[in-house]
This record gives sequence, structure tokens and C-alpha cells, in this order.
Amino acid sequence: MRRKLSAILFEQIGVFSRNPPSHVSFTAGQQSGFALNLYRKSTSDRSNMDLSDMRKKYKGDEDCFEESQLVSLDPIKQFGNWFDEATKCPEVGEANAMCIATASKDGRPSARMVLLKGYSSEGFRFFSNYESRKGSELESNPYACLVFYWEPLNRQIRIEGDVERIPFQTSKEYFHSRPKSSQIGAAVSRQSTPVPNRDYLRQKNAELEEKYKDTEVPMPDYWGGYIVKPYLIEFWQGQTNRLHDRIVFTKPKDGESEPGEFQHAAEGGWVYQRLSP
Ligand SMILES: Cc1cc2nc3c(=O)[nH]c(=O)nc-3n(C[C@H](O)[C@H](O)[C@H](O)COP(=O)(O)O)c2cc1C
Repeated sequence: MRRKLSAILFEQIGVFSRNPPSHVSFTAGQQSGFALNLYRKSTSDRSNMDLSDMRKKYKGDEDCFEESQLVSLDPIKQFGNWFDEATKCPEVGEANAMCIATASKDGRPSARMVLLKGYSSEGFRFFSNYESRKGSELESNPYACLVFYWEPLNRQIRIEGDVERIPFQTSKEYFHSRPKSSQIGAAVSRQSTPVPNRDYLRQKNAELEEKYKDTEVPMPDYWGGYIVKPYLIEFWQGQTNRLHDRIVFTKPKDGESEPGEFQHAAEGGWVYQRLSP
């Protein structure tokens, strides 16, 4: 197993070294040194890995993200601009994959990836199982934090907001727009609950395929969409000299707080400021 993993790692490093993303440049010596280091570490004790010298080159200062480069002072439009660039970047596999963090009522956090399925001035939509771990945490503590990281672009966006379920009808329309196999998958899976083994799921899947072979799969009542209504959106862009750019938009509630010293008015009740990296 260990040898197999090292081989895969070497293969990946080989591909990366042959086709580095345009903003990354390694000398031949650096490439082999990097590979060798990882190889040594991967073949040693895998339960105690030292990754202290694993770092990549970010953008140079000339590629920094200045306030003047915001395409809009509406952070949703700014999100749209970065999101479009991520979707057009061939090295970004799934631009709409995001990490969503929720927390239990007593503040214990949990996080996992989901897919963004739409956004507007209202907020950011995704679909899941209302009875899953995230579902029950959102039930008792309806706030979430979303993080997008588009590694080839050195960009991260963090969004914090209140979470609500989207209307039943909207969930239903989306549910039936999915491939039938995905609809059956949602009906099979009582997400986050224990099952005896994989065969149990296989069998249940086959039963439901048979049951609904000529009819529509009804949307399970435990499945549907959420909207994260943002009150904070932070745009982060990495720089080589570690003077990373961070521009954060917040939406103070009416009369909530005095504007800070470095805060600027934006659109739609938003304000923004630069944070130290
Ligand atoms: C790239 C990616 C996309 C995913 N998209 C979704 C999604 O849109 N909805 C969902 O419920 N789970 C999605 N998952 C699975 C979740 O990460 C997670 O395993 C599942 O929702 C159960 O999480 P929970 O037990 O914390 O509620 C995705 C996983 C990955 C890696």
C-alpha cells in the first residue's frame, strides 16, 4: 500500500512538473528536490509527517488585488466575477465546490464539501438532506460559513450568513431536474445515519430503481435546498511575499455599529475594509 501511494505521488509530481500552472515556476533542481522531499516523507512513517517545507509560489506583488480592481462594490457581483473566472480556469475541477461549516447548538463545529447550486442578491443555494448532521445542526443553529478555494487562482472566498430552507416547490423543481439516478440516490440515503454495509445501500438502490422504473421518483420530505443569506463576504488573494490581499464586506444591521476608521461605504447596505493578512 505504501509503495503504491508513493508511486502515485511520484506520478502526480511528474505531471505537475511537466505541466506546471502558468503562475508556478520551478527550476529543475527545485523540482527534483521537491519530489525527493515528498518521496522521502511519504515512504517514512506516514502517521507522523513533517510538511513544514511544503509551500508553493503565489502571485507576485504586481498581481496584487487592489480595491480599484473590485469590479463592483456589490460583493455578490464581485463574487460572480471571481466565480466566472474560476469556472473558466481549466485547472479548477469543480468551481462550485465549497466547504460549509455549521455548528451544533453548543458551538461544536463541523465542516464538509457541498456544491453551490445558485446565487443571487438573496444568497447562496445548495441542496442536502435536512436530517443529515449539517441539517440537524442548521435546525438548532441556523448560521453557516462557506469557503471556496480556487487553488490555481490563489483565491479564497469566505461567506458567513443566516441559513433558511428554500421554498418546497423550488426544491421539488430542482430535485426533478436531476438525473433519475441522483433522485434515487437521494431517496436511498438517510444521509449521516449508520448502515450495516455497502450491500444494504446497493440493495435499497436496486429496489427503488425497480419501484420507480416507469414513474417519477417522489422527492423525499427530508431532502431540499438551503439558502445562506450573507452578512459577511471576504475576498482573499494569495501573494508570494505573504502580503496576501483580504477585502472584507460586511452588512451591518440597521443601527448596529458605527463605521470603523478604515471602512468604506459599498452598495446595498454593505461596507468594506482591508484586513491585515
Ligand atoms: C465535492 C463534493 C461535493 C458534495 N456535494 C454535496 C451536496 O451538494 N450536498 C450534500 O448533501 N452533500 C454533498 N457532498 C457530501 C458531503 O460532503 C457530506 O459527506 C454529506 O453531505 C454528509 O455531511 P454531514 O454528515 O456533515 O451532514 C459533497 C462532497 C464532495 C466531496
